[in-house]
Amino acid sequence: MSKPLRKVVFPVAGLGTRFLPATKVVAKEMLPVLDKPLIQYAVDEAVDAGADTLIFVTNRYKHAIADYFDKAYELEAKLHAKGKEALLALVQGTLPKNVRAIFVTQPEAFGLGHAVLCAKPVVGDEPFGIVLPDDLIWNGQGKGALRQMAELGDEQQAGVIAVEEVPHNETDKYGIVAATAIDERSARIDHMVEKPKPADAPSNLAVVGRYVLPSRIFQLLEQTVPGAGGEIQLTDAIDALLKEQGKVLAYRFEGTRFDCGNKAGLVRATMHMAMQDPTLEPTVRSFLADL
Ligand code: G1P
Repeated sequence: MSKPLRKVVFPVAGLGTRFLPATKVVAKEMLPVLDKPLIQYAVDEAVDAGADTLIFVTNRYKHAIADYFDKAYELEAKLHAKGKEALLALVQGTLPKNVRAIFVTQPEAFGLGHAVLCAKPVVGDEPFGIVLPDDLIWNGQGKGALRQMAELGDEQQAGVIAVEEVPHNETDKYGIVAATAIDERSARIDHMVEKPKPADAPSNLAVVGRYVLPSRIFQLLEQTVPGAGGEIQLTDAIDALLKEQGKVLAYRFEGTRFDCGNKAGLVRATMHMAMQDPTLEPTVRSFLADL
């Protein structure tokens, strides 16, 4: 793909039913891992990858995400008046100054592919990234997963999908790829299928919520008929892209993924992040020992 990655799409229109009743009023993407909401981790990763235009595909109930990235006049004025400059910097730093946030509505929930298609008018004709904020990927001080993928996509002139191995009995929770290895981290995808039963799955290599794709995917999404779960599946459109262009890469990113779309994953992410924080680590350790 000849242009650098500038635009990243965040499909955030989901209802977050696994976290009810909290998600009755709190958008799932606003659930915190320590002091940062999930969406902030996702945005930080996109910015690290070079993005300057962030496109949030949201629904009419989720104003909190737009509010979170907006200016908070009253709060900022109060923090400034009290000389709390460190806190002010945190409040103002949710979005770097050179980065803009654009909000697009997905009028009805027809699936991930449909959500991505809603971003078509904003993305236009250039390669773009997709980040699913449920999947928090932590790589310490190293390059974020999306940046690793953008670099590979640029170098190989191909779409790149993040993958990792999952237990065989969990293939029906993921897009699954059949792929031919190129090297330790990358492989050429032969085909992809959305949420196959373990008996039908071509492998246990699962799609994780990061994608770098050419804009051609939008036309293919327009032609994609409802698939697994009766929804327009991004996986099916990528499979069509593969048949057309012959080259889409699967990439085993450097880093650890936490599936924060469920309670166990959110707990793991929270404990992991707490253990990285020297002011919390001793407390967590002794608390766990007591438990
Ligand atoms: C979506 C994709 C699936 C992918 C998963 C990663 O599924 O459709 O292919 O493996 O994200 O998190 P969802 O979790 O939205 O059902």
